[in-house]
Order: sequence, then C-alpha cells, then structure tokens
Amino acid sequence: MVQLTLPKNSIPVKGKTYSNVELIDDQGQHQADIRIINVYRWSGVEGEPPQIDRFEIDVTKAGTMVLDILNKIKSEVDTSLTYRKSCREGVCGSCAMNIDGVNTLACQKHIEDCSKEITIYPLPHMEVIKDLVPDLSKAYEQLTSVKPWLQSKSDPEKGKSRKQSPKEREKIDGLW
Ligand code: FES
Repeated sequence: MVQLTLPKNSIPVKGKTYSNVELIDDQGQHQADIRIINVYRWSGVEGEPPQIDRFEIDVTKAGTMVLDILNKIKSEVDTSLTYRKSCREGVCGSCAMNIDGVNTLACQKHIEDCSKEITIYPLPHMEVIKDLVPDLSKAYEQLTSVKPWLQSKSDPEKGKSRKQSPKEREKIDGLW
C-alpha cells in the first residue's frame, strides 16, 4: 500500500472562535438562525500551520448565499479573511471553494442547502496563497494551452472590428 506523508505543518490546527450572534432585533422579535461556520485560514507564511477558525453567525442577518456569510464575516467580524469574488452571478468562477466537502461556487450555494455547521476550505489539489485563495497560475497555463476561445482563419479588416450577425451569434448561445 502506498504511504503518503503530509508536509510538516500542513494539518490544520484549532483556530479562534468568533461570536456574531444577534438573537433579538430592535423590536425584540428576531428569530435567529445560528450556524457554525468553520473556515480554513492560512497566513501564507511558510512553516505556519493552517487553522480552522469557528464563526458563530446569525445567517438570517447575512443574506441567502454562502458568499453573503463570508462577506458578513469579513465586514463585521474579521476583516483579514481572504477569498476571491467578483460577479456574484455564478459566471466568473472567482468564488470557487470547497463547501461542506463539495467544490462549488460560494455565490451560488444557498445557505438553506448547507448543514447547521458549514465547513469551508479552499479548492483542493492547489497550492494556497492565503485562506481561501488558491494559486490558479497552473490552471491558467492549462487554459491557455487549449485555447478555449473562438479562433478565425482570417484576420479582420485592418482597423475594423469583426462583424457578427445575430444568426452567427445564436450558434454560441448557451455554450459559454
Ligand atoms: Fe463570480 Fe461567484 S463571484 S462566480
């Protein structure tokens, strides 16, 4: 049987616990939904072990998606939390991470589809730069090597853009 040895200091240790629990709103009527959010943290400093920080969050005050929880943590609890995001529409892929053991997009992962205790790791099998940010340089190299964009056999007329008819455009609808 193959035996694998993990690099020294690569196993996450127990980190900090933060509480951001709001049980009652100003009118005294708030129904809180407290979830435990376990988040992988790593400083990016070689030799320092990663840690799992525990955030207690009232998700009814966060929004609807896991990305909303991360945004709430970053803006109200720990501003040093590092992750990528951009479109918030499931298009750019920036917020790809591992949530409850599944690689997915944080902006498309509904809080209601998560467990009471949500565990968030960076994408696996990639080096981590910091917290939930993986190093994507290899992935971009691979992407460039397969040239996944439309390629033409001819150059456009000098100084002019290439025209595309609505009919030609239809051919790529839904393929991106
Ligand atoms: Fe663009 Fe999530 S922020 S896919």
